[in-house]
Amino acid sequence: DSLKNAFKNKFYIGTAMSLPQIDGTDVQSDDIIRKQFSSIVAENCMKSMFIQPQEGKFFFGDADKFVAFGEKNKMFIIGHTLIWHSQLPKWFFVDKDGKDVSPEILKQRMKSHISTLVGRYKGRVKGWDVVNEAIMEDGTYRKSKFYEILGEEFIPLAFQYAQEADPNAELYYNDYNEWFPEKVKTVTKIVNNLKSRGIRIDGVGMQTHVGLDNPKLDEYEKAITDYAAAGVKVNVTEMEISALPSPWGTSANVSDKVEYEAKMNPYTKGLPENVQKEWENRYLDFFRLFIKHQDKIRRVTLWGVTDNQSWKNDFPVKGRTDYPLLFDRNDQAKPIVQKIIDLT
Ligand code: XIL
Repeated sequence: DSLKNAFKNKFYIGTAMSLPQIDGTDVQSDDIIRKQFSSIVAENCMKSMFIQPQEGKFFFGDADKFVAFGEKNKMFIIGHTLIWHSQLPKWFFVDKDGKDVSPEILKQRMKSHISTLVGRYKGRVKGWDVVNEAIMEDGTYRKSKFYEILGEEFIPLAFQYAQEADPNAELYYNDYNEWFPEKVKTVTKIVNNLKSRGIRIDGVGMQTHVGLDNPKLDEYEKAITDYAAAGVKVNVTEMEISALPSPWGTSANVSDKVEYEAKMNPYTKGLPENVQKEWENRYLDFFRLFIKHQDKIRRVTLWGVTDNQSWKNDFPVKGRTDYPLLFDRNDQAKPIVQKIIDLT
């Protein structure tokens, strides 16, 4: 059996695709994707720094292949991401002298970026992460260039441009640490504001980059119900469960570099059985929650297929050996895959 069969009548189950998967050189994980997943999102190749590295110079090659892969395999294709402060080329917000552009120019550039991308894949990419990571954990707006130049209006504008370019595509606001109460409040305010102005927003993306302890399941569940109560679908957009300690969570007085590295990268030769168990239970807790709230959830997407391709090996600390995903370093399904299927 497969994940996509198991969840067929509940929600889409997806994965991010990296370049070797998109260009077909990673044959084994392409097989896994075809067999197990009903939705895909590009991990990097649709981000502004890759798709429009210079003004007006678009590089669509990888994104075209990504969309073709999804169509060929009848998948629900997601575009990631249109407006984000990170992996953003500098030309976007400066003029020839390197000074910040005017609000009018920035609006034009946003509109041209969004309508070119969304327009190119109109009717084929079914949902877009329109704005990514614009709100801080305390509920204030991130002081990004978009915010500094346009204020809060950059968000409604981005959604409006996307809606104009493909009126049928689902449009999402996407963020991490998405369970922090003040962030939930501001994001639901944004949802309400867009809706009251007749601007399309279909979902909130809960990235779900989580660890063994953080967040508590009830905080996370409250975010699901709060977002749904605002009248949008919840999309779990970038899920993985890191098995490693988070540097933010260590109180350790690790002044010594060697000691710190050992503490931060403890499982280079495999996960000990007890940690493995804890990690599995954590996945099962989350999937039980998703099933419980299946009426609110449109999609659950994992941020990659196999452990060796996960960005978590290099984030938030570089060069670690993490075990966050459902398939191991030899392209084999971990026992958790069957255990998740058995929940359905
Ligand atoms: C990450 C990718 O996984 C990495 O390969 C890249 O180097 C940096 O970005 N939030 C997002 C994703 O919305 O786009 C990020 O992806 C992870 C955090």
